[in-house]
Amino acid sequence: MGPPIIGVSENIRKIKELVEHVAHTGFNTVILGESGVGKEVIAQNLYQKSPRVGKPFVKINCAALPEGLLESELFGYERGAFTGAEQKHRGKFQLAHGGVLLLDEIGDMSLVLQAKLLHVLQSGEFAPLGSEKELKTDTWVIAATNHDLKQDISDGKFREDLYYRLNIIKIYISPLRERPEDIEPLIDFYLEQYASQLGSANIERPPSEVIARLKQYHWPGNVRELQNVLKRMLVLGDCNKIVDELFETTGQKPAAQSPAASAQDLGAVRSFLDLDNKALLENHAFSLKAAKKKAVDKVEKEIILYVLDRTDWNRSKAAKILKVSYKTLLNKITELDIRPPSFNSDTT
Ligand SMILES: Nc1ncnc2c1ncn2[C@@H]1O[C@H](COP(=O)(O)OP(=O)(O)OP(=O)(O)O)[C@@H](O)[C@H]1O
Ligand SMILES: [Mg+2]
Repeated sequence: MGPPIIGVSENIRKIKELVEHVAHTGFNTVILGESGVGKEVIAQNLYQKSPRVGKPFVKINCAALPEGLLESELFGYERGAFTGAEQKHRGKFQLAHGGVLLLDEIGDMSLVLQAKLLHVLQSGEFAPLGSEKELKTDTWVIAATNHDLKQDISDGKFREDLYYRLNIIKIYISPLRERPEDIEPLIDFYLEQYASQLGSANIERPPSEVIARLKQYHWPGNVRELQNVLKRMLVLGDCNKIVDELFETTGQKPAAQSPAASAQDLGAVRSFLDLDNKALLENHAFSLKAAKKKAVDKVEKEIILYVLDRTDWNRSKAAKILKVSYKTLLNKITELDIRPPSFNSDTT
């Protein structure tokens, strides 16, 4: 079946722990995250660690089928239930009996089907199309989606009662760009796998400067995209060129844009906030609120300075660009002691 859950980030570590705790419960679970982050991997791991392993693991993609077809796939139908139903057909709830049913892309399910699904979850019973008789099903339902279901609820696209039924356990997988420390373990895992698939003893790891650039990339396709990049590197060899193309085709500027802080950045933050100053911590002179204000002030100051610099200190122009009122900008300039570089008191 699927791979183990690879990763060392806080997010993945917590998910691994959660999987260990949840797997034996069979509580309805929703797995949330962008495309390619590993939702199916988590579902497979839940199944593999559960007492249901050995029973069926059935998956259905709710986004791939039109409503009618999805309904007949989920619940099955009797012979003659509709034109073309020449034979009785067993639905996924029947096929998954005793095991796990992964409802992938549940956010794309129609409201009508959501109501029918809710009924199954409440009663543990469902009726195939064209049948009067309800069948019992003992199925662990795991749902996955890249939608923001809370938002879908406010937009009237997702039933709140279904959400609370499904959402006993919620697992959110962060996008890969927010956990760059997982990139190296993933590379090592997949290179080893490709080596054994290709029958070669081992495959060379990309050089460290290439890995450093991969950690800066924003990975819109997440782990699936990383796999594709690795395969391309294997076949084409020229790692640097492949990374160049990544940044070019997605229009991401090299470095800088990544929200992920390198160890060096974190060191800078620590020293900026004076966190290594023991006395500060021991005397309770440190507070998160004050630290946050200090950090926000610094960032605001830099942004305002940057814009003023680019507008030749035309403050009304700068205010327009920053989308604040002229007065707010003047207040900020005073409050944050913003001056043109040549007037900076630090340098005199
Ligand atoms: N933490 C991980 N450890 C190992 N492999 C992973 C991990 N996360 C993702 N992968 C791999 O990345 C690929 C994409 O993962 P998966 O299909 O689970 O993503 P998904 O969130 O279901 O994506 P989609 O929304 O597109 O269906 C798979 O080949 C999977 O094995
Ligand atoms: Mg998936």
